[in-house]
Amino acid sequence: MKITKAVIPAAGLGTRVLPATKAIPKEMFPIVDKPAIQYIVEEAVASGITDILIITNRGKEAIEDHFDRCPELEANLQKHNKNTMLKSIESVSRLANVYFLRQKEAKGLGHAIKCAQSFVGKEPFAVLYGDDVIIGKKPVCRQLIDAFNEYNLCVVGAKQVPREKIVNYGSLKVAPVRDNILKCTDMIEKPSPDKIMSLYSILGRCILVPEIFDILEKTPPGYGGEIQLTDAMKVLAKRDGITVVDFDGKRYDIGNKLGMMQACVELALLHPEIGTEFKEYLLQLNKIM
Ligand code: UTP
Repeated sequence: MKITKAVIPAAGLGTRVLPATKAIPKEMFPIVDKPAIQYIVEEAVASGITDILIITNRGKEAIEDHFDRCPELEANLQKHNKNTMLKSIESVSRLANVYFLRQKEAKGLGHAIKCAQSFVGKEPFAVLYGDDVIIGKKPVCRQLIDAFNEYNLCVVGAKQVPREKIVNYGSLKVAPVRDNILKCTDMIEKPSPDKIMSLYSILGRCILVPEIFDILEKTPPGYGGEIQLTDAMKVLAKRDGITVVDFDGKRYDIGNKLGMMQACVELALLHPEIGTEFKEYLLQLNKIM
């Protein structure tokens, strides 16, 4: 089945990167010359997604402006023949049909996804977390869509995380299927050390079916008093199983300080315009540190 819709939850409060997020949404943090959320939208589009719902909240208007046209700026760039810049800003507003909806209270990721029900309708859909930038040769969202088409089950993108960190993530009960594919039959959000099921954790991408909305409707607040998407997905995992893709790509959690800096440094090194010069700079810096 062709998956053409994606939901990007971006209504979190971003408390781990305060005070930067007091007035600027973390999704708008620049990674070299693009805000983080643009990388995510581009990944969705490169995966065949045509319609994207971004879940926002108060104070995140900058995200809407970023995907809108900007006639004054366009006219100015045109007047001065700054065609490369003009193209770069025009293309952002043409990437996909981008829609916005506000989550009126930050009641958790599960609640944010529930807000997308009428946008999604009756089709399977992709979820790309607004603070997880993932760079892969083949877009990671596409890797998951391919697995959905093959196994006809919900899919999560996952990687193993260090044992000391898994308590801050979700933990999946998994069995190998083949190569980088596993099957998940249970999961737990932020497990205490004695409840760890494996070191595999969902990292920022999944393919869900509309049935998730009925389950979310009945899901009580879980860890941290928030409606957890993991608690709803657990129901499907236990009943039918969920396909796990140990994806091929590098994930940066820009919702934490170190992850954001890693994204900036590594993507600057890959940048066609400044990559070489930036590498020289880092090598020099290394000599004097
Ligand atoms: P996080 O837990 O990483 O985001 O949620 P957060 O709540 O902004 O983080 P901190 O702990 O305060 O720093 C994962 C994803 O779910 C979204 C976030 O925007 C992020 O993309 N989210 C989370 C919502 O859209 N709504 C919520 O109520 C919670």
